[in-house]
Amino acid sequence: MERQARREAHAENGSRTVPGTRVVFGPGATAALPELVRELVAAGRATMPVLLVFGATSASRPWRRRVTRELDGLRPDVVEHARRYPTEESVGALVDAGRACGAGIVVAVGGGSVLDAAKIARARLAAERAEGAPALVTVPTTPGTGAEVTPFATVWDFERSKKESVASLEVRPTAAVVDPELTATMDRREYGSSALDALVQGVEAAWSTRSTAESIALGLTAAGLVREAYEAAVQEPENLGACTAISLAGLHSGRAIAISQTTACHAISYPLTLMTGLRHGHACSLPLGQVLAYNARAGDCMDARGPEHVRGVVRRILRALGVCEPREVEAVLERFRRLAGLEEWSEVEFDAASVAAQAATYGRLSNNPRRLSRERLQTLLEDRRTR
Ligand SMILES: [Fe+2]
Repeated sequence: MERQARREAHAENGSRTVPGTRVVFGPGATAALPELVRELVAAGRATMPVLLVFGATSASRPWRRRVTRELDGLRPDVVEHARRYPTEESVGALVDAGRACGAGIVVAVGGGSVLDAAKIARARLAAERAEGAPALVTVPTTPGTGAEVTPFATVWDFERSKKESVASLEVRPTAAVVDPELTATMDRREYGSSALDALVQGVEAAWSTRSTAESIALGLTAAGLVREAYEAAVQEPENLGACTAISLAGLHSGRAIAISQTTACHAISYPLTLMTGLRHGHACSLPLGQVLAYNARAGDCMDARGPEHVRGVVRRILRALGVCEPREVEAVLERFRRLAGLEEWSEVEFDAASVAAQAATYGRLSNNPRRLSRERLQTLLEDRRTR
C-alpha cells in the first residue's frame, strides 16, 4: 500500500509538475475561508459537512476564535489533534472524528504537525470510501514548513524512535489558505525555528539530486526571502511585511520540496528531534553549515548532471544567503539562531554515532548531491565539537 503510494508520488515528480494545491495567500486571507469552501463544494471537489481540526494547544490562540468565527455559518464539527507530533493513535482519532460526522471537507488549522495529522487522516478516510474522498483545506499558523502544499506527511513513533513518511496524492491538500497575520502570536523560538525550516528546505530543494529548474528557483527564492526578512520578522512580530515574506518563503519551500524532496539536513534532523526534542526547523538548521561546506567540495558527486551543475547550484545558494564562501554560512545561521534564542551545537547533548546511524536509514540522504556514508556523517557531526 505504502509502496503504491510512493510510486504515485514519484510518478508525479517524474512528470515535473508542481502538485496542484490551490493557494489563497496574503494578510487577512483567513476571511476567504468560507468562500473557498463554498467554491470547492460548487465545483464538486467537496461536500458538506466540514470537519474543523485544531491543535491541542490552540484554545488560547486568537486565530482559533478568528477561524471559528469565519466558519461559523458552515456549522463545522470541531476536533482537536491531541499530540505535539502526529502518531498512529492521534491520527486514528481524527479519522474516527471524520468518519463519525461523514466529513466531506476537512479544514486543518495549526502548525506542521496538525496539518500532517490531518493530511494522513484525510488520506485514510479517502481509502475507506469507494467514492467522494473528503477535500482538505490547510491553514498554517506557523510560517515555514510548507506542509500546507506538500504531498507528504510524517508520523512519529517515539517508542521505536522512528518516523515514517507518508507520500501520496491523497495526502496532498486540495487548497491552502496562508495568512501571515496568524503567525503574529507565535513564541519567538517557535517562529525562528519555523523560518529556519523554510531556509533549509529551500537550500535542500535547490541542491537535491531530484531538483528541477523550477524547484531550484523556488528553493533559492525561499532561502533569499528568509535571509532578507528573518531579523525583522523574529524581532518585530507586528512587522507584517517581514512576516509575509517569511510565510511566502515557507510556501515556496513547500512547493520546492514537493518536487525535489529534502536531503541530508532533514535526514539528520529526524533522529536529533527524536533524541533531544529539538524543534524541527532548529534541528534542520544545525547541520546546514557543515553539510553545505561538505557539498561545496569536489568528489563523490551523486547528481547525474555532474559536479559542474552542483558547483553552480552551491554558488547560487551562497548568493541567495548573501555570502561569498561556504564557511561564511555558519555565521549567518548562528546569528539567526541567536536572534530567536535557539541553542547552538555546543549546547545540545547527543550521541553522534546514534544520530548518524539513524540518519543513514532515511532515503532522503541519497538525494544529497555528494555521497554521505554513515561514517562520514558521524565524522561531520563529531567535527562540530572541534570548530
Ligand atoms: Fe522541514
